[in-house]
Amino acid sequence: MENNIVLTNVTKEFKVLNRHEGLKGSIQDLFSRDYKTVRAVDNVSMTISQGEIVGYLGPNGAGKSTTIKMMTGILKPTSGEILINGKTPWKDRNKFCENIGVVFGQRTQLWWALPLIESFKLLKDIYMIPDKDYEETLEFYKTIVDIDPLLHKPVRQMSLGQRTLSDILASFLHSPDVVFLDEPTIGLDVAMKSNIRNLISAINEKRNTTVILTTHDMGDVDALCRRIVIIDKGKMLYDNDIEHLKKVFGSYRTLSLRMSSKELNEGFVESMKKQFDPYGVGVSAEDHWLSLVVNEEKIKVIDVLSKVQESVQVKDMKIEEISTEEVIRKIYTEGI
Ligand SMILES: Nc1ncnc2c1ncn2[C@@H]1O[C@H](COP(=O)(O)OP(=O)(O)OP(=O)(O)O)[C@@H](O)[C@H]1O
Ligand SMILES: [Mg+2]
Repeated sequence: MENNIVLTNVTKEFKVLNRHEGLKGSIQDLFSRDYKTVRAVDNVSMTISQGEIVGYLGPNGAGKSTTIKMMTGILKPTSGEILINGKTPWKDRNKFCENIGVVFGQRTQLWWALPLIESFKLLKDIYMIPDKDYEETLEFYKTIVDIDPLLHKPVRQMSLGQRTLSDILASFLHSPDVVFLDEPTIGLDVAMKSNIRNLISAINEKRNTTVILTTHDMGDVDALCRRIVIIDKGKMLYDNDIEHLKKVFGSYRTLSLRMSSKELNEGFVESMKKQFDPYGVGVSAEDHWLSLVVNEEKIKVIDVLSKVQESVQVKDMKIEEISTEEVIRKIYTEGI
């Protein structure tokens, strides 16, 4: 397979003003040139082939958006090299943009006052999309999502979900080789998230478009990505198939125990945390469920269960493989 994205030792540093506290400090800041350097992306290398959907994950401030901005040519790396289909994004931006699509989840790139169809027509002219291709794409879109009610609506009158959907449709309109989606499902309800996942997956399948996706929603990852790349504090922690990661955590199980809300109080959860801490068991509570992430190499699920039952009445239970969500949470908190 052809490699259409290659990052080699990419680093991005920002110079930020060292702020001083208080009124005196603010005045000092006005005149001082006291800068510090923040390394947002630190020596990241990866290679992505045409048609892959890659989940680019990491906690807040990890450097994901900064990487996307460099890959789309908005920012220039401090050092290192980025090649997308053999081209350097920040050089020759106009030509480069013909081959990519971008969506930043919280902002729209569409014309605010115009009905969606007018935005599409403008994009058709900008990207010089042939009539036949344009019509074909619209027809294809109609087979995946119900866009008719959207086409004649001005973007500013759309809900967040409708607008995001429209933005994604627009980003794929000119059949780019690569589309970058930065948190495309942020703030959306369950049904709209599912619409958007279906859309991305259908377009990827039909057009073999490469998709780089950042998200905090592991549902997106489960639905779309075979491969994930994880970064934290700018450094790459992981780059491989999600299945491989789950194998690494193959001895982990999630034990969920249902109990009355009276029993499942803060004090009880704290005591469970304390009791199982020596075995590295992760303890959390939600609704009526106590959830314990157990590494069976350290302690058996059955032993955890009987220990919990010593102090509380368990009404129902589930044992599951570790979820993507928990795997990622463990990596964020403990590393790999
Ligand atoms: N223009 C900028 N000037 C200075 N610092 C910046 C700038 N943009 C980003 N940073 C810093 O770089 C780091 C990485 O930010 P980035 O937006 O890439 O994180 P992220 O992984 O996208 O996080 P999130 O999940 O919250 O969106 C942060 O510490 C951020 O404060
Ligand atoms: Mg971001």
